[in-house]
Formats: sequence, structure tokens, C-alpha cells
Amino acid sequence: MKLLITGGAGFVGSSLALSLKNNYPHYEIYVLDNLKRKGSELNVARLSKAGIHFVHGDIRNKEDFDAIPPVDALIEASAEPSVLAGLNGTPDYLINTNLFGTVNCLNFALKSKANVLFLSTSRVYPIKAIETLNFEESDTRFVLTDQQPIPGVSSKGIAENFPLDGARSLYGTTKLASELIIQEYNEFYGLKTVINRCGVITGPWQMGKADQGVMVLWVAKHYFEQQLAYIGYGGTGKQTRDMLHIADLYRLIDWELHHIDEVNGEILNAGGGVESSASLQELTRICQEVTGRTIPINPVTENRAADIRLYITDNTKVTNRTGWKPELGIREIVTDITAWLDENRAALEPILK
Ligand SMILES: NC(=O)c1ccc[n+]([C@@H]2O[C@H](COP(=O)([O-])OP(=O)(O)OC[C@H]3O[C@@H](n4cnc5c(N)ncnc54)[C@H](O)[C@@H]3O)[C@@H](O)[C@H]2O)c1
Repeated sequence: MKLLITGGAGFVGSSLALSLKNNYPHYEIYVLDNLKRKGSELNVARLSKAGIHFVHGDIRNKEDFDAIPPVDALIEASAEPSVLAGLNGTPDYLINTNLFGTVNCLNFALKSKANVLFLSTSRVYPIKAIETLNFEESDTRFVLTDQQPIPGVSSKGIAENFPLDGARSLYGTTKLASELIIQEYNEFYGLKTVINRCGVITGPWQMGKADQGVMVLWVAKHYFEQQLAYIGYGGTGKQTRDMLHIADLYRLIDWELHHIDEVNGEILNAGGGVESSASLQELTRICQEVTGRTIPINPVTENRAADIRLYITDNTKVTNRTGWKPELGIREIVTDITAWLDENRAALEPILK
């Protein structure tokens, strides 16, 4: 099998590329990345050492795909992945990459007759709708209740039939727009596709920063003894997310890659679920226990743009369709990230401190 992973020097792309190469050494894997994300340059040597072909290119330029031979499957994992991107009034890079760039990927896949696995996001679900959900406030977090004003949500989390009307951030919109185009290519051009709407994905080799990759940011700030802030929702750190270990995502992508006919045309929510969820406050406690360090965390009462109180993935559909469910929880994630920081301290300090 020949594969192309766009954004393949990024956190998700490089992790998937390396795991696939490890499990299927005879696969020929190409990654295309423009190295826009700080830290992604560290992955180039790791990829090359594993025998993966790195192509320094930009999905915004369709000519950059000329360096890649026809492939059997394309995993689209390139993006400007920050929910804050473009909100300052300059959305060009975001839209040109996440939407027009995705179209270039789809056209390359069409020419190659390649199947497409698309990394979408829970951010396709509209912000105001999520913010009006019924929740309870426990001592340490916000919790979804079963009685809800809209369909597609319960105490298990948010499902694929959650209504899509309303603003969702420009990031979420570029992803949803890409999803719509993917569905047209699937229906009218016969492209085989699967869309995974992921919540927070995390693990070693994520170059966490304030606007994207919160889990690594949180662990790294503890590790390097810096400071953090609980921003919004009263400044108590009760906002809650589920988090999916990259190793769990890998198992899903591996399955889909090899069973595309069973998920062709599907949209699947995939995330850590209730079992692998935490509020910031709970995450702080685990970081303190695992790193042995306690840092100052300042409360900021004002909400951040495009933020949401809580998001939990309802994995019911993806589990029914594929048998997949996440296995690793928050503590394992924090432990793995801490071990990675230990092993790569010198290289990571300038990026994550
Ligand atoms: N990490 C998460 O929590 C999360 C959650 C849901 C969905 N996703 C999606 O998963 C995918 C991977 O995200 P990630 O967390 O690995 O982010 P990342 O920033 O680590 O990786 C994205 C990669 O794309 C590259 N890139 C950016 N613009 C490019 C362009 N124009 N041409 C070529 N390469 C370009 C970057 O250099 C980077 O290496 C994205 O599509 C993202 O939207 C991520």
C-alpha cells in the first residue's frame, strides 16, 4: 500500500505515519508538510529515520502534489488547527489551508483513486447551541445532564445528529465546509471517504500552545514550572473536555484504512468520551501528582472568544460501526506526556517552555 499523509510532520500526522510504518513496514508512506507549526521540524528526522518519505510542500499549491506518486489512501491531517485562527480579522491562511488546501488534497486523491480519511473536529458543532445545554456543576467540573433542549446530546456527550445551525468559529467552519465538499466527492465522483469528528486529541509529540494543544501545554507548564491561567467560566477551571490519546486514535485510523467499505461515506464522532475526560482543575491535580510540581494558576473571569463550557464525545456510533473505543485515560496521557518531556527535554524546552 502507498499512502500520503498531509500535515504529516504535525502531531497527528507524524504519529499516524510512524505507527503505520512500524506496524506495516512494507507500506510506502509519503508525508507532505510545510512545517508551519513550530516544532513540526523536529519530526522530519524521526520520519526519515523510519523510512518515511518527507516532502516539504504546501497543500495550498496543487503543484506541490506533483512530487508524490499515485497513492492508495490519503489521510488529511494538515491544518491551521487553532479555534482562535482568523478571529482577529485575517482568515486568509486558515481558509486557504483548511478549505482550499483540502480541495487540492481531494483532487489529488481523485486522480490517484485514493481513499480519503479526513480529520475533522468537534468544533463543527455550533458554539451557542453547546453553551445553552443543561449542565450540573459539581465540586470540580461541569457535567452534561440527560434532559436537554436539543437532540443529539445526553450525559454520554454529543452525537452526530446534534444540530449544525449557528456560528462555530472560522476554524470549525472551514472543517465543516470541507466535510460538505468531501460528501459531494463521495456521492458524485465515487471517492471513498470517512470523516472523523474528533474532540481533543493529545499525547507525546504534540507541540502544545495556548491556543491549541491544551493538554500538553498544561503538563509542560507544570513540568517547566511556569504559570497558567483558568480563563473564563468564573475562573475556577471547571470547563471540561474529553481527551483522546493519539495511540487510541491510531487504532481507529488503522481499522478504517483497512475496512474503508464498512465506513465509506460516514461521519463519525470520535473522542475520549466520559471515561477519558477532565476539567482543567482536575487536570491540574493529576499534573501535580505526576510531575510532582505545583505552579501558580491565576483566575481570569472573562470568557475567551469561541470558548465552550464543556465538550464530551458520544462514541456510540463509531463503536457500533467499528468496534473501536478508547482505552487510555487522562492519567495515562499525562504520564506519557511527562515521560516524553523527560526524554526530550533539551529539544522541547525552547518550544514548550
Ligand atoms: N489535535 C487536536 O486536538 C485535534 C482535534 C480535532 C481535529 N484535529 C485535526 O487533526 C489534524 C491534525 O492536527 P494536529 O493536532 O496534528 O495539528 P498540528 O498543527 O500539529 O499539525 C498540522 C500540520 O499541518 C501542517 N500545515 C499547516 N498548514 C499547512 C499547509 N498549508 N500545507 C501543508 N502543511 C500544512 C503544519 O506544519 C503541521 O505540521 C488537523 O486537521 C486538525 O484540524 C486535531
